Amino acid sequence: MTESITAPTAIEARAFRDTLGHFASGITVVSGIEGGDPVGFTCQSFASVSIEPPLVSFTVMRTSTTYPRIAATGSFAVNVLAHDQHAVSDQFARSGTDKWAGIAWQPAASGNPIIDDTLMWVDCRLWAEYEAGDHLIVVGEVVEMSPIDGHGGEPLLYFKGAYRHLREAQEG
Ligand SMILES: Cc1cc2nc3c(=O)[nH]c(=O)nc-3n(C[C@H](O)[C@H](O)[C@H](O)COP(=O)(O)O)c2cc1C
Repeated sequence: MTESITAPTAIEARAFRDTLGHFASGITVVSGIEGGDPVGFTCQSFASVSIEPPLVSFTVMRTSTTYPRIAATGSFAVNVLAHDQHAVSDQFARSGTDKWAGIAWQPAASGNPIIDDTLMWVDCRLWAEYEAGDHLIVVGEVVEMSPIDGHGGEPLLYFKGAYRHLREAQEG
């Protein structure tokens, strides 16, 4: 008899996170503007979804205090962080703090905050929201994006719970 490689027991949360942590991703800051004030949070679960219409997605914890403030405006921007922006990622992951202290940004046409010196950005109209366990899957329709000739530099990556850079792999 062939033995199953899957455990017959329930999936334990810590093991689930550790296992899924082997899927490398970039890191973004999802941002919005609430009554003139910028708001945002660090988000690695960003993905490209559809070309026609142009859709992107991310997932957000239901406990996020920032996301409901963004959702209420009906739009958001996604700022894809460059390799030297790990401090920005840390700053936007701290709930209840002044996340925008020392952060330079410019408004998109919608007014949503676009963080300086990122790899790329997209500005979106909130298209759909789907309940998924303890998270929401949020889909946005891209209405504006960074100029195609403005992209440079390398991405900030997240892998097995730590920040990574492409160069490490190239040098190592
Ligand atoms: C590298 C990294 C990736 C993260 N990715 C996500 C994510 O995909 N979805 C999410 O809801 N939170 C994610 N977080 C956690 C949120 O950034 C954090 O819980 C959020 O800033 C909470 O603040 P809020 O209460 O202001 O929403 C991530 C944090 C880090 C450090």
